[in-house]
Amino acid sequence: MEGRNLFFLTSIILLLIFTFLNLPSPLSHTTDQLFDCTTYSPWCSSKKPFFLRQPENSKNHYADFPNHPLDPLTIGEIQKVKKIVNSIAEFRMKGCVLHSVVLEEPEKEVVLNWRKGHRLPPRKAAVVARALGVVHVLSVDIETGRVTRRETGSYSGYPIMTIEDMITATSAPFASSDFNRSIIQRGVDLADLACLPISTGWYGKIEEKRRVIKVQCYTLKDTINFYMRPIEGLTVLLDLDTQQVMEIIDEGKSIPIPKAANTDYRYSRIKKNTQKINLLKPISIEQPNGPSFTIENNHLVKWANWEFHLKPDPRAGVIISRAMVQDPDTGKMRNVMYKGFTSELFVPYMDPSDAWYFKTYMDAGEYGFGLQAMPLDPLNDCPRNAYYMDGVFVAADGTPYVRSNMICVFERYAGDIGWRHAECPITGLPIREVRPKVTLVVRMAASVANYDYIVDWEFQNDGLIRPKVGLSGILMVKGSPYVNMNQVNQNEYLYGTLLSENIIGVIHDHYVTFHLNMDIDGPSNNSFVKVNLQKEMTSPGESPRRSYLKAVRNVAKTEKDAQIKLKLYDPSEFHVINSNKKSRVGNPVGYKVVPGGTAASLLDHDDPPQKRAAFTNNQIWVTPYNESEQWAAGLFVYQSQGDDTLAVWSDRDRAIENKDIVVWYTLGFHHIPCQEDFPIMPTVSSSFEIKPVNFFESNPILNIPPNSPKDLPICKAAASA
Ligand SMILES: *[C@@H]1O[C@H](CO)[C@@H](O)[C@H](O)[C@H]1NC(C)=O
Ligand SMILES: *[C@@H]1O[C@H](CO)[C@@H](O)[C@H](O)[C@H]1NC(C)=O
Ligand SMILES: *[C@@H]1O[C@H](CO)[C@@H](O)[C@H](O)[C@H]1NC(C)=O
Repeated sequence: MEGRNLFFLTSIILLLIFTFLNLPSPLSHTTDQLFDCTTYSPWCSSKKPFFLRQPENSKNHYADFPNHPLDPLTIGEIQKVKKIVNSIAEFRMKGCVLHSVVLEEPEKEVVLNWRKGHRLPPRKAAVVARALGVVHVLSVDIETGRVTRRETGSYSGYPIMTIEDMITATSAPFASSDFNRSIIQRGVDLADLACLPISTGWYGKIEEKRRVIKVQCYTLKDTINFYMRPIEGLTVLLDLDTQQVMEIIDEGKSIPIPKAANTDYRYSRIKKNTQKINLLKPISIEQPNGPSFTIENNHLVKWANWEFHLKPDPRAGVIISRAMVQDPDTGKMRNVMYKGFTSELFVPYMDPSDAWYFKTYMDAGEYGFGLQAMPLDPLNDCPRNAYYMDGVFVAADGTPYVRSNMICVFERYAGDIGWRHAECPITGLPIREVRPKVTLVVRMAASVANYDYIVDWEFQNDGLIRPKVGLSGILMVKGSPYVNMNQVNQNEYLYGTLLSENIIGVIHDHYVTFHLNMDIDGPSNNSFVKVNLQKEMTSPGESPRRSYLKAVRNVAKTEKDAQIKLKLYDPSEFHVINSNKKSRVGNPVGYKVVPGGTAASLLDHDDPPQKRAAFTNNQIWVTPYNESEQWAAGLFVYQSQGDDTLAVWSDRDRAIENKDIVVWYTLGFHHIPCQEDFPIMPTVSSSFEIKPVNFFESNPILNIPPNSPKDLPICKAAASA
């Protein structure tokens, strides 16, 4: 290989690695000893893989030890797991890969009964390993060093891809001279290539009995935003295990590669507006007496009346557990939610052509939502008063590494109002009572290749929890022969919007499905109640009114009663109540799930991607708690066929009344791209709420004090006119 090419190829791989991951390692002093580089790691040809580096200023996690039954595996524990797994001959072999190593959470009852100061329940790891093409699900007891459970997967689909899978996939096509030729024929220098590993979904033939992936490429020439320069119609089908190129589809040769002009989004590179724009002056939140939250032992968050356990997870991203709120009357901590997390994402593109039909991503189960969560940028991703939490994850060969600053926690004061009332002159009462709204935010941002998902869990001291998803990043675009809409024949459909010359933003959806194991005042006796608003007609002569709305309560007996499609003209509230507990005046205590702006999947139920993503067929589902039913698309999602989804579980129609129940909520977006989304998208957000309903005896934040100038730093608002 020519020296220059080698250099550029290396730079491309490097770039891709930094695009997809940022795998720093905590292992500065013991790297050699810990990283025994066996041949089965494809990217691991030298002793020290170049991306496993100690991040600057990162915290040292060597001394970490678990303090809580739900604390994630520590570096030391992961090293033990690696040793234990390696002690089994089958898993020492070349070709054995660890797809996932996480804490196997103790049974819920054990966690609920555990108290601070108690001995921790036995620490176990849940390991998904693949050896000779067979998937093994292992339970590893870290203390005894024994593998206590070992099953081979019986569902369709493969485990989450490893980061190493993704890296190999993007470099494997270069082994094919046909591929090289196709690229050169498009007028692209091989040195300028950037390729993406695209999960294939499942359509039947080519995905049968082998792990495959599709690779599509872009040119990096003259821009860092290679996503805007697609080599349209060129798709490489790869065997993910042998890295063999199975097929190269080279269509759309006549489609030009869009120009690099105006695609860069880096502040240092964009052309600064020549017109004078009013720049904002610096802004920041000050907390003169420090933050009001504490994080005990790195995972137990305490703020205002809330307490919850927080941890990073390679698949879900952020997991909130044991969320409890203090009752203002009794001072007792009351259970609200045992576990909440983003269980799966589904992102189908709406273009059935050869190079596009398969783009129907499931970012948690295929790519790892947490694995793709990059270090947050202090002052910009999170405000100055934020606390940062690192993730400790595991490479395919069992080596631990640290993803620094993966989650941030901060208090937000956005100038909003918690509650207020002022008396008007009619009553003449001199009353003006206002309370500022301060909330606590837990944030993560996952960059799944081009797209960025910002996931917030916002807690309010009035008991409300608001999960929120923001979409930003870069569109997945399609090359087009057109530079202006006036060239497009009236009957031609573009599958999207012409965003810039030769660039179409293809229409797509995003669905984020949340798993919410609600524990309203404890795990048992929870029920799901639809409170349906119905139009009631008055009898003739009864009232000057013809109609009014009546709230009709229906307790869901079984799962099918709780398969909910949202309807504006047949509205309901969705309550989770504890049927054993009543408020002072006799209402069942509860929390309600309050949908916000959302979207429903309109794809045909028999469309293969929709079958795999059947968990988006309803916006709300309720299942009985089952520790094996955590992942809405199933345990193994890659090339899954939809035989282990939430829809399949729910159709068993199990009883859900007076039980420990899980509410599943899907937050959806339809996205018809527009020019403002080019070359990078301003954030689009939506959220929903988990809100107390007759849970407290009265307004729980009556006793919070108003702001007073003496408590705040000297800082004057600009004089107003
Ligand atoms: C394809 O091009 C790359 C980059 O120049 C080179 O490293 C590789 O050897 C080429 N592949 C073949 C089969 O020639
Ligand atoms: C509450 O739950 C417990 C345990 O599941 C059950 O034994 C009891 O019957 C339930 N109470 C009511 C009122 O249903
Ligand atoms: C728990 O979930 C697993 C996986 O879906 C299922 O096989 C099992 O039957 C479920 N148990 C119950 C009691 O529903």
